[in-house]
Amino acid sequence: MDSRYTTFALYALGAGAITTSLVKLKGRLALSKSKHRSLSGHARMARRLAAMVPFYEYDERRFFRADDAPDEIAARREAGFTRLAEMYRERYPNTVRLTEEVRDGVSDMQFTDAYRVPFQFSRFVRQHLRVGAFVQSSEGVTVTDLDGNRFYDLTGSYGVNLFGNDFYKQCIERAVEQARDLGPVLGAYHPAIAHNVKRLREISGLDEVSFHMSGTEAVMQAVRLARYHTRRTHLVRFCGAYHGWWGDVQPGIGNPIPARETYTLNDMSEDALRVIATRRDIACVLVNPLQALHPNGDAPSDTSLIDSGRRAEFDREAYAEWLRRLRAVCSSRGIVLIFDEIFLGFRLAPGGAQEYFGVRADMVTYGKTLGGGFPVGVLCGRKEMMRRFREDRPADICFARGTFNSHPYVMTAMEEFLRRLDTAEIRVLYAGLDELWNKRAAQLNDRLRKENLPVRVANLSTVWTTLYTQPSRYNWMLQYYLRAEGLALSWIGTGRFIFSLNYSQADFEAVADRFVAAAKAMQQDGWWWADPAATNKSIRRKILREILAHRFSRNRA
Ligand SMILES: Cc1ncc(COP(=O)(O)O)c(C=O)c1O
Repeated sequence: MDSRYTTFALYALGAGAITTSLVKLKGRLALSKSKHRSLSGHARMARRLAAMVPFYEYDERRFFRADDAPDEIAARREAGFTRLAEMYRERYPNTVRLTEEVRDGVSDMQFTDAYRVPFQFSRFVRQHLRVGAFVQSSEGVTVTDLDGNRFYDLTGSYGVNLFGNDFYKQCIERAVEQARDLGPVLGAYHPAIAHNVKRLREISGLDEVSFHMSGTEAVMQAVRLARYHTRRTHLVRFCGAYHGWWGDVQPGIGNPIPARETYTLNDMSEDALRVIATRRDIACVLVNPLQALHPNGDAPSDTSLIDSGRRAEFDREAYAEWLRRLRAVCSSRGIVLIFDEIFLGFRLAPGGAQEYFGVRADMVTYGKTLGGGFPVGVLCGRKEMMRRFREDRPADICFARGTFNSHPYVMTAMEEFLRRLDTAEIRVLYAGLDELWNKRAAQLNDRLRKENLPVRVANLSTVWTTLYTQPSRYNWMLQYYLRAEGLALSWIGTGRFIFSLNYSQADFEAVADRFVAAAKAMQQDGWWWADPAATNKSIRRKILREILAHRFSRNRA
């Protein structure tokens, strides 16, 4: 070959390689830019750093002085803590006894117990303020523990409890009657499925339905199908969004291996839209509309309440606009838009988040409350997205099973749930729902402001979170004062309260009174004393210094 051609060919190859590298580099840079600046936005780095944090804890003296409070304040805190500890011991003996008896054998209990508060304080709190894990009954908006103590239920059973526990008891009773003749026969379907499929198609506005045993599995199936049909590999989730505990949707802390085919992008950001609009490997985008309350924020657990940096504010129109833009980009790129409505589903409107925000998805997952009190996950999707095989490639299938996926008792409870959802009695609960709960939040905030308490609430309808207005290391203590006032909280403490729609004004006012009383008691006990120079940043820096010091001294030891 003429050497001129060879040289030309080499130049062309070189130029091609450089262009490819530049394009790749550009893609990588765009991706980096589209991540949220927090650690949650950088899942791999977060995992690596988390693995390096050493355990250390405060001794009794430091426990009350982590913010260098003067002795007089520390003494008030200690007296308050001792009073609470005695009260817990007296009031919850049987509930705590059973909890202690079984805890060693229940991994979940050990985990939730250890992670109620920041780890430096955890053991001391666990030793003295023992929280019982058992309740024996529920009625109205209350639950009762093994010692007969009644609590207003703010746990919402992880979101399942939308219409009040009595509603679900009735669904279950009716479900058992309906399924009695068939019993637990699996494989063949109970006829209740016909109604469920019909209503779910109407509610979702989508063509097909698949049943699963949990929300996590419904999400797994949605992503698997999106990958199958688009022949692309990656899923997009937004920073902080929870979609169950499957590895690919939980790329950060909590998952022992990296999720290599997941992009975690900055929520409500132009840069994220740009990445979605330009990359060719994105199969689907997952949206958890709960993030509208705290875009890019993790589930607000008190275990990470190390300062007062928790933020939340819901802007319905801004989020709807974001979803509309996301919808347009996904449509133009053939990317499957999945709304994960497992948590919020029927909580915002009978037609779920699609109806509430006025945006349609290609696939929607539901769960929790839809099971009428039983475990469930549901996926609804467009026909061409839901198909699990290809006409022209018989061996190329997209597999999905699950022994209990259409359990007769679950299906009959779901049928009951859906029938009741259509009744006037339930529909009326949705009328003016947001106005009602926004008004209640504003009322409580007003009281907190007037009482000069450094606490506020923020809400997305009936889902609430607690915010703290002045830098403090002890905000997590509020959960123990709230429990002492007879409010039942989930293990993430003040991070999330979930109200059921059957809370009357009187019920709500009782909760508000208790909330204010708890905050007042906490303030009187000195926990919110603050060094005027302290800021959230200075608190975080100090903790970082502690962590480094412990890591350093451990390495030397
Ligand atoms: C939005 C969302 N997706 C998925 C899941 C997982 O559902 P499950 O706990 O039923 O597996 C949850 C559970 O909290 C959720 O809130």
